[in-house]
Amino acid sequence: MSTVLELPSYLKQSPEVAARLARLKARPVELEVKGLTKRFMTPDGGTVTALKEINLSVHRREFMSVLGASGCGKSTFVRIVAGLETPTEGEVLLGGKAIRGPGPDRGMVFQGYTLFPWLSVKQNVMFGLEACGSSPTGAESDALQWIDLVGLAKFADAYPHQLSGGMKQRVAIARALANQPPVMLMDEPYGALDPQTRGQMQSYLLQIWENVDVTILFITHDLDEAIYLSDRILVLSPNPGQVLEIVEVPLSHPRSPEQFLSPEFLATKQRIEELIHPNKHASDDKLPMIRLTKVGDDVN
Ligand SMILES: Nc1ncnc2c1ncn2[C@@H]1O[C@H](COP(=O)(O)OP(=O)(O)OP(=O)(O)O)[C@@H](O)[C@H]1O
Ligand SMILES: [Mg+2]
Repeated sequence: MSTVLELPSYLKQSPEVAARLARLKARPVELEVKGLTKRFMTPDGGTVTALKEINLSVHRREFMSVLGASGCGKSTFVRIVAGLETPTEGEVLLGGKAIRGPGPDRGMVFQGYTLFPWLSVKQNVMFGLEACGSSPTGAESDALQWIDLVGLAKFADAYPHQLSGGMKQRVAIARALANQPPVMLMDEPYGALDPQTRGQMQSYLLQIWENVDVTILFITHDLDEAIYLSDRILVLSPNPGQVLEIVEVPLSHPRSPEQFLSPEFLATKQRIEELIHPNKHASDDKLPMIRLTKVGDDVN
């Protein structure tokens, strides 16, 4: 006999979680997205609306994820916040000021490894510090502290090719945080890692975030990753990317991998699945069948 697990509502929060989220929302707004729309030109002379009328407030020291199907505009969103793309309509404010381009007030960690291969771990982390005016001695001692924080003290003099994928991403995090930006932007940073390393990296990121005063905007299409890491999750629809819901994660802190199987976790995952794949079982969701055999083949 099979039993069906009764899940609580994803909206049900323990008093501890509710109090934490209330404290979080009482903090100043670090990033404010107002009426953000982005349209791109297509090669045939038309336009594609990647993002439509996004409104969002991210509070200081919040961990906010952006989740949605491939092509829903997640990278476009983070690139606009990074100042690498401009909005078609609306604006993004950082600490109350409109973003006009890239700046040292936003650390960035993107998928793939963007370390300089000819520089050591320490030199990679020092690079941004010196570019922002630190003296070589000051940059070196700061870099070593950040490298220690991400658990790579023994590898300070190693070169990127001597590191595993997970270690390279930890250097990328140290480098992004070294100038102590108020905001760190992460676009699918663990997309290229194997599942086990990915899990370790998620735990490392939470530990680092506990120790650093930084607001994180984390882009992913992995539901488990978003729920495990975040305070809140912005769920976007595809074509055009619009806000479906901002989900408050009902899990307590500190987070631990056992929570992956908790009823609150599963209820949140079920809700996000419903938002992202509303027609999962509908027949029009299937790929058309393609006949791979030649007419006349005796296949039946
Ligand atoms: N520079 C560009 N020029 C034209 N269209 C673009 C450009 N950048 C993105 N797009 C379009 O905008 C939409 C959103 O793309 P985006 O890369 O932001 O999606 P995404 O959610 O990050 O996808 P994925 O999960 O696959 O990384 C897509 O339709 C894409 O083709
Ligand atoms: Mg993307």
